[in-house]
Amino acid sequence: MAAIVSVVLTVNGEQRAVSVRPAETLLSVLRNKLGLTGAKPGCLNGDCGACTVNVDGWPMKSCLMLGVEAVDKQIITIEGLKDEPIQHAFIENFAFQCGYCTPGFIMNCHALIQQHPNATDEKIREWLESNICRCTGYQEIEKAVKSVLNQ
Ligand code: FES
Ligand code: FES
Repeated sequence: MAAIVSVVLTVNGEQRAVSVRPAETLLSVLRNKLGLTGAKPGCLNGDCGACTVNVDGWPMKSCLMLGVEAVDKQIITIEGLKDEPIQHAFIENFAFQCGYCTPGFIMNCHALIQQHPNATDEKIREWLESNICRCTGYQEIEKAVKSVLNQ
């Protein structure tokens, strides 16, 4: 039987005790152990960005990180964002269509705004490359990000 380890993760400001397999991804821990299903399983391969959460203020594809690696880090998921400017900006700029890619985009953009409050258009495009939307353009998402930045 695979070993199980007990860890405490800090998720959305709360300490959450959880038993995980050493090889279990953070995405799996969040969704299947902690009931936080906002981060979505897309490619499970690091390509699509649907699973993006913020770890210590940076966007992280949670399908590429182990749950045990997240100990002692501040993890924020889409469920932890409350009334953030980027959430309003997405609504005001019609920056989404489906609920599958949107949480990942919002978490990536939220981190971008924190890390680069004066981001250039080039920087915004570079960051958005890590998330894939299969049904719409990226212009509305760029507009949403820009509306929150100090450009
Ligand atoms: S599910 Fe993680 S990048 Fe696609
Ligand atoms: S709006 Fe979600 S994949 Fe395009």
